[in-house]
Amino acid sequence: MGYEAKFRVWRGDASAGDLRDYAVEVNEGEVVLDIIHRIQATLAADLAVRWNCKAGKCGSCSAEINGRPRLMCMTRMSTFAEDETVTVTPLRTFPVIRDLVTDVSFNYTKAREIPSFTPPPGLAPGEYRMKQADVERSQEFRKCIECFLCQNTCHVIRDHEENEEAFAGPRYLMRIAELEMHPLDTADRRDAAQDEFGLGLCNITKCCTDVCPEDIHITDNALIPMKERVVGKRYDPIVWLGNRLFRR
Ligand code: SF4
Ligand code: F3S
Ligand code: FES
Repeated sequence: MGYEAKFRVWRGDASAGDLRDYAVEVNEGEVVLDIIHRIQATLAADLAVRWNCKAGKCGSCSAEINGRPRLMCMTRMSTFAEDETVTVTPLRTFPVIRDLVTDVSFNYTKAREIPSFTPPPGLAPGEYRMKQADVERSQEFRKCIECFLCQNTCHVIRDHEENEEAFAGPRYLMRIAELEMHPLDTADRRDAAQDEFGLGLCNITKCCTDVCPEDIHITDNALIPMKERVVGKRYDPIVWLGNRLFRR
């Protein structure tokens, strides 16, 4: 059975904006993105929203719904009571372009800064051999749809814009961990993770993991193991002695 929902949507641009109220029809089985599209089709033709797949796979429709970072296409209207006001606002960490669309280029900048996969010289792609456990670890990280909900949520930049230069965010620290744990990657990424990408700023609050729509265990499986590797290199007396002797 359909009903009329109360929606409150942030409208504006980089200079200013406010929340606008809309009363809009909801039908059984619909998700928040359906309602945003209905507002666009019937009440506010100029409402800006980014989306693509409507299947939780492109990572485009990230927003904050009643204050929680979520994918609009994967948030069912049945999550909310029929008399509840559903408030949709743009990702708070990134600059607004217009309405629900933010400028997420920070993430692409960070992605480009990470040195790429470095296999041993002379090893051709068809010659890669890996243990199944290593394949499975990589596969978990590669489920990432780059929705940037984790990047938006982590307090290190959400509450401290000044850290943006020094902190790559959970998604890209996870990428560094993926490469560092890759058995065929020959680069040592531990110093860079700590000194250039801000691993030390992560105090393992796990908020990134809580919002990940792909259920990737970002903190437990990527960030903490990466921190252990950095500590192992820097403070293990045997590693320290080896580094001194062999000048790695
Ligand atoms: Fe989104 Fe999860 Fe990837 Fe972060 S790790 S960008 S929350 S899919
Ligand atoms: Fe931030 Fe996730 Fe670490 S939320 S502090 S990157 S555990
Ligand atoms: Fe693709 Fe929502 S529209 S993830």
